[in-house]
Amino acid sequence: MCGVVGYKGKEIKIIDIINSLKLLEYRGYDSAGIAFSYNGNLVIQKNEGKIDKLLSSFNGKYKDISSNMIIAHTRWATHGIPNDINAHPHLDCKKRIAVVHNGIIENYKELKQELINKGHVFVSDTDSEILSHLIEDFFNDNKGNNLFEVILNIVAKLKGAFAFVAIDNELQELVAVRYESPLIIGIFDNNNYIISSDIPSILRFTKKIIPLENGDIFYVNKNNEYKIWNFLVNKEVKRNIEFISWDISIAEKSGYKHFMLKEIMEQPKVIKDTLLERIDLNSYVVNLDDKVKNLIDLVIDKIDNVMYLACGTSYHAGLLGKYYTWELTNFNSDAFYASEYRYITKNINLEKILYIIISQSGETADTLFVSRELKNLGANIIGIPNVIGSSLYREFVSFPTRAGIEIGVAATKTFTAQAIAILLLNLYINSIKDEDNPILKNLIKNLNEFHIIVDKFLEDYMNIQELAIKYKDYENFLYLGRNLMYPIALEGALKLKEISYIHAEAYPSGEMKHGPIALIDSKMPTMYLVPYNELIYKNLSNIQEIKARKGKIIALVDNKSLEIVRDYVDDVIVLPYVDKFLQPILFNIALQLFAYFVADLKGLDVDQPRNLAKSVTVE
Ligand code: G6P
Repeated sequence: MCGVVGYKGKEIKIIDIINSLKLLEYRGYDSAGIAFSYNGNLVIQKNEGKIDKLLSSFNGKYKDISSNMIIAHTRWATHGIPNDINAHPHLDCKKRIAVVHNGIIENYKELKQELINKGHVFVSDTDSEILSHLIEDFFNDNKGNNLFEVILNIVAKLKGAFAFVAIDNELQELVAVRYESPLIIGIFDNNNYIISSDIPSILRFTKKIIPLENGDIFYVNKNNEYKIWNFLVNKEVKRNIEFISWDISIAEKSGYKHFMLKEIMEQPKVIKDTLLERIDLNSYVVNLDDKVKNLIDLVIDKIDNVMYLACGTSYHAGLLGKYYTWELTNFNSDAFYASEYRYITKNINLEKILYIIISQSGETADTLFVSRELKNLGANIIGIPNVIGSSLYREFVSFPTRAGIEIGVAATKTFTAQAIAILLLNLYINSIKDEDNPILKNLIKNLNEFHIIVDKFLEDYMNIQELAIKYKDYENFLYLGRNLMYPIALEGALKLKEISYIHAEAYPSGEMKHGPIALIDSKMPTMYLVPYNELIYKNLSNIQEIKARKGKIIALVDNKSLEIVRDYVDDVIVLPYVDKFLQPILFNIALQLFAYFVADLKGLDVDQPRNLAKSVTVE
């Protein structure tokens, strides 16, 4: 993971680069560092901890300093504990070269040994430090006259995943390499270049970007002229400059205490945007983007299974998709963690399967690697990324969600957008077989009005806040839901774990009696999801089983199930009654708020929970 930033061009304040780096902090925050060219010297400052610590360690000393060549890094530790020495940038022995890296150099041990044998002295435990020493070594051995030629030789030796930026203070050159980890170039005022792992941190400078392709080497010489060479095809390449229409305000908190709360509140808009032009309200049909529609039309008579693959929260959206497919189409369906499916891709009749691969970032290594393997085998794949320009977006037929940038590490609005996108795909599949289905038309109508209901619900969350105060000190929670609510129980429990560090287990309600019931006592409250539907009396029986064991219950109900459930539970969160297929999305929003308030009341770092990173680009 990690976030890298680089800059080369006219002199700019280094604080501007640090502010850009801050927008990558979601990628990891174990340590932060910066290196820049100043009065002929290479200055470096780095420390364990977050970027704010880096800023205060400056003591105002570099606040007004400008530089023409800067690299910076925020780390999610893989090789070597989070400490000052393992923080990036890493230098060579002569302190001429500095490097920041995202990814893992898998063969670093043997390369390190070769370099040590040649007299190089390493100071850190990281795999990344070999990059600066390799550059130095290749210069020493005259294997290149400039940074580009040296890097071209070096990439041939590297195994693993790497997006790195290196600067040579002596030659005043910069190189950025993208291989299996993302890297984007922003260009402004003709020949000033900002390089970053993600778009938001570039938007502060420019909306003109070049998303590098796998294998691209971006080289800027002393005169700030650039070229891009792809080492996989071994030739110079031209990449189009794209224009990003996003507004920088999406990367600001806009008066909210945390990004997470802001992003929860944005969900009505996200629902509207993700539906935009994809449902026709005159005839109540689904209008998919051409490429997606063509792919489904092509495979619909051959497949018998829809398979969802993803990680984390996106996996929970996929699991919800599995239920949508079962209920709305004639196909079988399943959902797998991408990291698990990778090992069972053999002996599968690919022609019979439509894969739906979900990833907010579009860069999650576990998800991407299995997707690429399946693509090579000829599988039918639709990707659902949120980040436009990401690998999932570019390499696959993609049906993007339109949630905008999500900064809070715990995914909220992107889950909602994914669920809406998956529902649309299933509605389209359903409509091919039965265009006049009244259930379909009714659902499309309800889907269109859903954002208004969510908006109204979000106007008043006092009750959830009060329950967060009441329950925040419990150390364990059980989350239960049946059928379409089971993925939401999982997602609700994940949110609570991720940001409040409270242990939470989720089960399908019917499974409670097969084990988890042993955990129930007055110290383990249950968050029970009980919308009004045909399963309500089964849920009521389980609720009574919990009460008989002195378990406390918070029931998430709607205004139809409230009356049936009220007398049997300790507390309720009441939601408006909505279409059965929209209930899970709405209930999930209530659970997001509950987790948010618990974590905030505990005084935790809601937007950047410990040990996590938003985009996990390592396996
Ligand atoms: C990380 C994040 C999770 C996210 C998962 C999948 O683990 O912390 O919040 O759900 O990656 O991310 P993706 O970008 O593939 O949806």
